[in-house]
Amino acid sequence: MSASIEELRRQFEEDLSQAVSLDGVKSVRDKWLSRESGVITGEMKRLRDLSREERPAFGQAMNQLREFVETKLEEVRADVHKAEILKSRKRIDVTRPGFPYAKGAQHPIRRLQEEIEQIFLCLGFTVLDLPEVETDYYNFEALNMPRNHPARDAQDTFYFDENLLLRTHCSPVQVHAMESMKPPIRAVSTGKVYRRDPFDATHSPMFNQVDVLAVDEGITMGDLKGTLEVFLKCVFRPDIRMRLRPGFFPFVEPGAEVDISCIFCLGAGCRICKQSGWIEILGAGMVHPKVLRMSGVDDSRYSGFAWGMGIDRVAILKYGVDDIRLFFENDLRFLNQF
Ligand code: PHE
Repeated sequence: MSASIEELRRQFEEDLSQAVSLDGVKSVRDKWLSRESGVITGEMKRLRDLSREERPAFGQAMNQLREFVETKLEEVRADVHKAEILKSRKRIDVTRPGFPYAKGAQHPIRRLQEEIEQIFLCLGFTVLDLPEVETDYYNFEALNMPRNHPARDAQDTFYFDENLLLRTHCSPVQVHAMESMKPPIRAVSTGKVYRRDPFDATHSPMFNQVDVLAVDEGITMGDLKGTLEVFLKCVFRPDIRMRLRPGFFPFVEPGAEVDISCIFCLGAGCRICKQSGWIEILGAGMVHPKVLRMSGVDDSRYSGFAWGMGIDRVAILKYGVDDIRLFFENDLRFLNQF
């Protein structure tokens, strides 16, 4: 009896090996598993002719055979199905030329921003990535501009609520750096700032700045001038000259407005510098003792310098662009020139 079951299994495998299409697999299934006329059903009928003792073993062997047949059929059906799909697919021509696509490039402002960060990394500064949404404390209060301070008016601000705003400058880096680092501190941060300014050739409600802070024992105005000069020569050109004029910012004392010699006429006087030979470029100064104290730095031991500069303004000068809006309009005819 077991020999004949072995024989059936062999026959089934023989049938299955001939099935190379889904139809082929289906006819093997019909031949073996059909309820009325299938081989297995036919064999089961022999159960009646067997003795009571022989029946259980035979039944069990037949059930195993049926399971085997079902499993194998499903395996082969899946393989054949996959092969048919692959065959029906078109061949891929790997030699065919690809589709041309337009390449993007770094935005000129972003590139200048990275160049500036690189200069400071070379000078040993740490670059901090700071939030554009700030609290009143970091943007104003800790920079010696308490509520109702008149200097706040100079920077018309976008507020979310009483406490939360879009930063109006990158100077909060001073506070963040002094809170998170211990002197000696050399920190810089670049990024977008926002003011309720009109959108015209020389103004934009969003622009970019870089702010710098150095705090250490014995830092003087001389350190400010020296570092600033190295920086400006790297950004513009090595033969650039600079001058400091007194200027007021609540968070520095003394404060200065910094001019560079005109990069177009080299100081001789032209339309861009309005015949003065100088171009105003940034604000700077020695960190106000109150600002040091509020951020937990001992102002009897340490002093510091800070400056802040508009990156878009530098881009306008460097690339000779006469309308700041061009940087934000994403016109490829403009952007492709950089
Ligand atoms: N935050 C000032 C501005 O936005 C610039 C500045 C920075 C001035 C640091 C002095 C020191 O105009």
